[in-house]
Amino acid sequence: MKLLITRPIDDLVLAQAEERFETTYRAGEVPMSAAEVTAALGEYDAILPTLGDAFTAAAIEAAGKPRCKVIGNFGVGYNHIDVAAAAKAGIAVSNTPDVLTDATADIAWTLILSTCRRAGEGERQLRAGEWKGFDPKGMLGTHVTGKTLGVIGMGRIGQAIAKRGHFGFDMPVVYFNRSAKELPFDARRIEDMHELLGVADIVVVAVPGGAETVRLIDRAAIAAMRKDTIFVNISRGEVVEEEALIDALEANAIGGAGLDVYEKEPYVPARLTALENCVLLPHLGSATVETRRAMAQMALDNIIAFAEGRAMPQRVN
Ligand code: DGY
Repeated sequence: MKLLITRPIDDLVLAQAEERFETTYRAGEVPMSAAEVTAALGEYDAILPTLGDAFTAAAIEAAGKPRCKVIGNFGVGYNHIDVAAAAKAGIAVSNTPDVLTDATADIAWTLILSTCRRAGEGERQLRAGEWKGFDPKGMLGTHVTGKTLGVIGMGRIGQAIAKRGHFGFDMPVVYFNRSAKELPFDARRIEDMHELLGVADIVVVAVPGGAETVRLIDRAAIAAMRKDTIFVNISRGEVVEEEALIDALEANAIGGAGLDVYEKEPYVPARLTALENCVLLPHLGSATVETRRAMAQMALDNIIAFAEGRAMPQRVN
């Protein structure tokens, strides 16, 4: 079987892929265009793609009856793959849940703490040689312990974020989710998202990407936050109306933002990078050696299961 891996992945997993399949891989970080996707669907039996690779309905339909029968996505989020169009074309799709939950919750907490405590701004000041010494009134941030944490999307990652807040930072937790959750810690469900946005001191968005959550945090939602709200997004850039968020940050209408994802990433608007009241990371949610290895292994294992005629453990369509 011919396998295409669309980005460099962990060497150990790559070696397994090379042993098992006739493997080709794309170098570099640039996502596949729709035209490249269509060509690859005709050329390979299996594809191991990732975030940004444009498996749109049009790109899949343009492949007609594709040679490709299985897509083992590297990543829990698969909003870049039209899974219904893939199913229609006879292509099974899988993802990599669970293995990145803790790493992603940790990056949410990196953003919560560094935004509240102005860590990015402080580090920039120090590196620029502008630090004049300890100042009882200098660079005061937001206290985190005991504040109310609002989690939007109480799935696996949302729960891991909330658990850290509850047990590690003594935080009352409120959450917005389609359904109520049985949780191993106290958390109050709020059914009106705007109400939650007004109640929580720190708001973290952890919903999955896709059509249902595009601009869930729109201008009206941002207006429902308070002047001191700290807002964190580790889900998908499209979930937030980025321009409205930038307007709010520029006007100091909210306390600050910590972002790991952007509407048109890797493009990040200059208006955002010009601001001091936000901490900006380059989509590092799952970026630990251990997690990325586990993701690669899971994506490959799903493809191997398909190739051997077994059920794919993490099939999504
Ligand atoms: C995912 O797996 O969807 C993540 O966003 C990658 O870190």
